[in-house]
Amino acid sequence: MNRSAYIVGTGHGVPARRLTNADLEKMVDTTDEWITTRTGIKERRIAEPSEANSDFSAMAARAAMDAAGWKPGDVQAIMIGTVTPDYVFPNTAALVADRLGLGNIPAYDFEAGCSGFLFGLIQARAFIESGMLDRVLVIGTDLLSRITNWEDRTTCVLFGDGSGAVAVSSEGPGGRLGGFHWGSDGSVGEHLIQIAGGSRRPPSRETVDAHLHTIQMDGSRIFKHAVRAMRDSCLLALEMDGTPKSEVDLLISHQANLRIIEATARALELRPEQVYINVDRYGNTSAASIPIALDEAVRSGVIGDSSTVVLAAFGAGLTWAGIILHW
Ligand code: ACO
Repeated sequence: MNRSAYIVGTGHGVPARRLTNADLEKMVDTTDEWITTRTGIKERRIAEPSEANSDFSAMAARAAMDAAGWKPGDVQAIMIGTVTPDYVFPNTAALVADRLGLGNIPAYDFEAGCSGFLFGLIQARAFIESGMLDRVLVIGTDLLSRITNWEDRTTCVLFGDGSGAVAVSSEGPGGRLGGFHWGSDGSVGEHLIQIAGGSRRPPSRETVDAHLHTIQMDGSRIFKHAVRAMRDSCLLALEMDGTPKSEVDLLISHQANLRIIEATARALELRPEQVYINVDRYGNTSAASIPIALDEAVRSGVIGDSSTVVLAAFGAGLTWAGIILHW
């Protein structure tokens, strides 16, 4: 018997503190007008110094479990896509599993930049379709504010903090995971990089003074790669799914920049109302952006029965992915 994987619960958790474009005007040489026209972002959420990734991941995971009607003993594995774990080790998923009382289940983090959540969904699909597992929690989460250079106006206006989670099950009803495409290109990875803090450049006084522990990005180069990779991922995922563009009801793309989202929507020939956008309220939350948007779309009824949804991601690596959901 063919097995399928279904999203049966969604949730998200974000910090309470809002940082608006007007606040940023007081911090660096920028304007609300520049940020709005170049990115579509109006405000973002920023974690307090006392908060960490696992706090918001646990919030998102608990909400997804509640929506699915799962008890702690139901979860068989938990995986987290993130570039900003609580610690280098132990992994954040194990901390969240402990916080939620999930027992001694497999818990691990992996890193695929802003594509992390979709890479996690594709792994969950494989575990479930192979018959190895029946119920998995997948979390996409990042506190990019922790690795942002708050003196660099070309990056600090873009990012925000948050977490999103889904419960994936071998039993519906829910959003069935359909065709997908995923890929990477390490030859251009240096265009979006945190240089220090790993084994090549361990943290030192010099690396901190030079801000090498923060995000360095060649924005216009990344922009071009993002547009091409997300378009191609969506089209290849639709092809694998056997679904024509005309049957797509909704696009939920990585929320990095309104102009990149609009370019992906044009490639799919979608109308503006078929594109979910929350980049104005959260900025770029990296691996969290798609599951936060997915949760909002499910809870607000934008996604209903018989919706066909395209998810598209792009991020550091460089990495990219597209996946089709059938509700
Ligand atoms: N306020 C005012 N002016 C600014 C700001 C700012 N915050 N930032 C840059 N500028 C200036 C630049 O200095 C430049 O000035 P110059 O012409 O005098 O040199 C001018 O604005 C234009 O800068 P560009 O970088 O060419 O602006 P662009 O239109 O490319 O927009 C942006 C920049 C928003 C970063 C865009 O390139 C982008 O979104 N890139 C993709 C980023 C992305 O998608 N990342 C996603 C993957 S990574 C991840 O998600 C973690």
